[in-house]
Amino acid sequence: MIFCSAVVPEPAVCAKIAADSSFRKKRRLLPDSLVDRWALITGASSGIGAEFARQLAARGMHLVLTARREDRLRELAEELDLRHGAKTELIPLDLSEPDAPRRLWDEIVSRNIRMHILVNNAGFSQVSEVDRASREKLLEMVRLNVAAVTDLTYRALPSMLEEGDGGVINVSSLTGFQPVAYMGVYAASKAYILHLSESLWAELRDRGVHVMALCPGTTRTELFEVAGVSGWLKKRPSHSPERVVRTALRAFRKKRPVCIPGARNHLLTLLQRFLPRKRVVRGSMKYFRPLNPRPAGEAEASDRAD
Ligand SMILES: NC(=O)c1ccc[n+]([C@@H]2O[C@H](COP(=O)([O-])OP(=O)(O)OC[C@H]3O[C@@H](n4cnc5c(N)ncnc54)[C@H](OP(=O)(O)O)[C@@H]3O)[C@@H](O)[C@H]2O)c1
Repeated sequence: MIFCSAVVPEPAVCAKIAADSSFRKKRRLLPDSLVDRWALITGASSGIGAEFARQLAARGMHLVLTARREDRLRELAEELDLRHGAKTELIPLDLSEPDAPRRLWDEIVSRNIRMHILVNNAGFSQVSEVDRASREKLLEMVRLNVAAVTDLTYRALPSMLEEGDGGVINVSSLTGFQPVAYMGVYAASKAYILHLSESLWAELRDRGVHVMALCPGTTRTELFEVAGVSGWLKKRPSHSPERVVRTALRAFRKKRPVCIPGARNHLLTLLQRFLPRKRVVRGSMKYFRPLNPRPAGEAEASDRAD
């Protein structure tokens, strides 16, 4: 009896223990201690970015979401609040505008948010023969896929390095491993992201900050409609965004420099290393030739009409 009364704590302490043990239980489910920390996800209004938002919110993170389509961001924020009680801050903007990364970062700083993870995911592709390509669209792609990624990465890293914690996930692509006909600028932009991320991984790994390139193969998202090749998804083996992001977060936790979801995709990147580069890029002509070529830019007008 005496033993029992001695170990039965006060109600207030009981509540604390219950809270602590539920927290411990939560922590067991969340081994990467992301709880109550903030992540910035660019391109969160659809596809892989929206899925990053779902899976990071499920791990207890709060999110800054950005993309151009505010209505989509708002819907997603409501879903995340309802399901996970995640705090979200929405900052809709067009990241291909030269000054947009600075405006985005200033807004984050003015809201007193310290970023633990940056997911540079926003990006688009155009598939077209050279003489039908829109130079304007290609330059917009370079500003979004290359300049904005670089800008945000170098804005986010200093405070992460100060804390010796956190990291960046840069969404590259399987196409980043080789030159690709009909989408040369896109593949080159993804090769840039891959090389930048690997360099930063090496440079920062002993300073507590992790940088990883995510290189998905074909993934079932709106990317193909935007690129003017919506038929591609039916003709190629593909992954769901859910699987891509699950694999990415596992690799990020293991501090991998590069994540290639899917064994087949991984094998493809190994294979092309042993083939002559001429053969690889010529091979890409068969695989990536536009089926019903449309002038670049038309796709966006019709496909983004929501
Ligand atoms: N799907 C694939 O097979 C695949 C494979 C390898 C890599 N990736 C990469 O994965 C990333 C995500 O693409 P996804 O497949 O999820 O395609 P998606 O569904 O089309 O998503 C692209 C996201 O980027 C945003 N975005 C596009 N232009 C923008 C701009 N100017 N400013 C701000 N945000 C912009 C879009 O939002 P708004 O339109 O609302 O602005 C959208 O949220 C991209 O970097 C893509 O290159 C995709």
